[in-house]
Amino acid sequence: MESRHDDRSRQITTGFDVRMNTVDEIVSTSAGDTLSLETRKDFPVLHQEINGHQLIYFDNAATSQKPSQVLDAIQHYYQHDNANVHRGIHELSNRATLGYESARERTAEFINANSAQEIIFTRGTTEAVNLLASSLSQSVLKPDDTILITEMEHHSNMVPWQMVAERTGASLKYLPVKDTQGALDLEHLDKWMTPDVKIFSCVHISNSLGTINPVKQLCAKARSVGALTFVDGAQSAGHYPVDVQDIDCDFYAFSGHKIVGPTGIGVLYGKRNILEQLPPYQGGGEMISEVGYDGPSFKKAPHKFEAGTPNMSGAVGLAAAMDYIDAIGRKEIFEHDRSLAEYFYREVKSIPGTQVYGPEQNRAGLVSFLIGGMHSHDVVTLADQKGIALRGGHHCTQPLMKKFGVTGTARASFYFYNNRQEIDRSLEVLAHIQKRFGD
Ligand SMILES: Cc1ncc(COP(=O)(O)O)c(C=O)c1O
Repeated sequence: MESRHDDRSRQITTGFDVRMNTVDEIVSTSAGDTLSLETRKDFPVLHQEINGHQLIYFDNAATSQKPSQVLDAIQHYYQHDNANVHRGIHELSNRATLGYESARERTAEFINANSAQEIIFTRGTTEAVNLLASSLSQSVLKPDDTILITEMEHHSNMVPWQMVAERTGASLKYLPVKDTQGALDLEHLDKWMTPDVKIFSCVHISNSLGTINPVKQLCAKARSVGALTFVDGAQSAGHYPVDVQDIDCDFYAFSGHKIVGPTGIGVLYGKRNILEQLPPYQGGGEMISEVGYDGPSFKKAPHKFEAGTPNMSGAVGLAAAMDYIDAIGRKEIFEHDRSLAEYFYREVKSIPGTQVYGPEQNRAGLVSFLIGGMHSHDVVTLADQKGIALRGGHHCTQPLMKKFGVTGTARASFYFYNNRQEIDRSLEVLAHIQKRFGD
C-alpha cells in the first residue's frame, strides 16, 4: 500500500490540465447559492489564488474561515479594552471583564443553556473533554463502572476516556457503527445501555462520516440507566440549531475556530447542579476563593474550572462569531450545507471507482470519499494543485477507518460561503484525477 502511495506521489508532480474559473466567475455564477453570495465578501482569505487558481476552501470541518467582523472585534479588543480580567479595579480591567463575561452570556444564549454559570471557557473541544474526563475520573468513576462511547468518535472524545479508563479501572465500551453508511447500531441499544454505564459520550455530527446522531434519544436512553451524558458538538454548534436543554444532555462542548471564531477558545457546557459537584481540573489563579498554606477553597462553577488568565480576546471573537452566525440563521446554514453535501455525494459517486462513506440522506455538510483506488493524500495533493483545499487521512477517527479497512479518506466539508459552482469545479477536477491517476 505504502509503496503504491509513493509511486503515485511521484506521478502527481507532473500536473494536469483542467480549466478553472476565476474569482469573478465563481462569485457571479453562483445564482441560487444566496448565502454564499451574501457572505463571501466578509471573508478576506477566500479572495485569493492558490497555485494559480481561485481558492476553493472545502476544509471547513477542520477549521472555518473568519469574517472581517470577527477579526475587527478581536482587533478592537486589543486596541481599546485589553487588560487582565476579574482581578483589576481599573477601567480597562472592568471593560475586559465585561467583554469576557458578556461572551459567556452570549454563549449560553447561543446553545440555549439555562444560565451563563453553565458555560466554561476552554481552549477547544479537546480541552473540554479532557476537563470533563479528568474531573469525572476523580468524582464519579469506579473500577466496576463502564464508559460508553461510539465507534465513530473523534480521537478527542476517545483518547481522554481511554486514559481515564486506564487510570480508574473502569471499562470503556464502543457502541458499534453498522457499516460504511455510518449509522449507529440503534437496534441493539438495550445491550449497550446497561446500569453499569456511568458516562455516555457521543458525537453529535460525525466529522468523518457526516452522520447526524439522534443525540436527544440516545441521551434519554442513557439517562434511563443512570448515566451522565456528554455530546461532542464540534461539528454541530455552528452548523445546526443546537438547544442543550432540548437535547437534555448533561454536558456539551464545541470549538470557536470551527464556527468562524478564533482558535484557542472553546466551550464546555454543563448542567449547573452537576458542575457544582465536580472537582476542578487545574489549579491556579482565578479559580480560588481563598488560599492558605494549608490549602485552597474554590470558587463556584464556572470559575473553578478556569484556572489562570483566560483567553479574553478569544471570548470576544467567539461572541462576534456567534452574532455573525445567528444573523444568517443556523437552520439556513444547515439546509445550505446539507444541500451542497447531498449534491456532492450524488455527483462524486458517479466518478468511476469512487467509494463514498456516510449516509446518503439526512447527512451533515461533509462528504468522505475515495477515488479510483488512490491514496487520499494523493487526491488531496492533486486537488491542491488546482486551488482546492480538501482534507485527506484518518480525520482523527483511526479506529473507524481501520474498521472500514482503509487508512483514510478524502473529505470535502462545506460552509455557508461555499456554493455549487465550487462543487462543480471540484467534481471536474476529481473526475480528471480519476481518469489520469485512478484505477
Ligand atoms: C467531532 C470532533 N470532535 C472534536 C474535535 C476536536 O476539536 P479541537 O481540535 O478544536 O479541540 C474535532 C475536530 O476536528 C471534531 O471534528
